[in-house]
Amino acid sequence: MIIFSQISATTVPDNAIIGISNMPIDNGHTTFYHFGVLKFRHTAKMNRILIALITVFMTNSIGAQAQEMAGKPPKILVAYYSWGGNTRVVARQIQSLTGSDIFEIKPTKPYPEDYNICVKQAKKEIDDGYKPELSGTVENWSRYDIIFIGSPNWWSTMAPPVATFLTSHDSSGKIVIPFCTHGGGRQANLFKDIAKLCPNATMKNGLVVSGNLAQRAKPDVAKWLRELEIIK
Ligand SMILES: Cc1cc2nc3c(=O)[nH]c(=O)nc-3n(C[C@H](O)[C@H](O)[C@H](O)COP(=O)(O)O)c2cc1C
Repeated sequence: MIIFSQISATTVPDNAIIGISNMPIDNGHTTFYHFGVLKFRHTAKMNRILIALITVFMTNSIGAQAQEMAGKPPKILVAYYSWGGNTRVVARQIQSLTGSDIFEIKPTKPYPEDYNICVKQAKKEIDDGYKPELSGTVENWSRYDIIFIGSPNWWSTMAPPVATFLTSHDSSGKIVIPFCTHGGGRQANLFKDIAKLCPNATMKNGLVVSGNLAQRAKPDVAKWLRELEIIK
């Protein structure tokens, strides 16, 4: 970069000699930094050739770097909460199809095992906007480019532990892809509410799976991942 900016802004007279070395060279007009072994008598024509060569060199190396970065496979995490197991099944299907890492969101205090008591508690927590404490956080969160986030439909929105997770893990600049399982109400407000908690992420189309079909959902999961161009 130094070479390019110095040469393109050159004030070198036509007859200046440019020695190519790894040391700064001061010809009285400007200082050059060069790396290499060649030596040129510097004419106006040579100046143009040099600039062209250096431009090609710089363009190629930046291009190669960009290509290398673009070609790097994205790092994917599947994070999910599951009370009864359905969402876990789908999360594992995504994991096995993408080769991603997986993280189970767990509240410090598990929800009641009794369905009706759990439903009642969940209603109160959601109405109050309560965010339960979680028992862990994702290590190396910053390394992930794509986050799949899964939740059961609870009262037409995400389960509260998922809300805690999203408010405690900054998804800025990441791709966030939601999925849910449900008991008949499909995604309702769930994906919309997840997007609200990821204001600086790029949201992609979510997957909706009926809870009682989770075990047989793998072909649908694969189709969805292909549509998202995550797998071929
Ligand atoms: C507290 C609670 C609230 C629920 N609310 C809804 C709802 O509003 N709409 C719906 O379709 N299903 C609802 N369900 C059913 C679950 O979304 C469904 O069974 C889901 O597949 C459960 O996922 P899991 O096994 O991963 O916990 C609710 C279940 C629970 C436990």
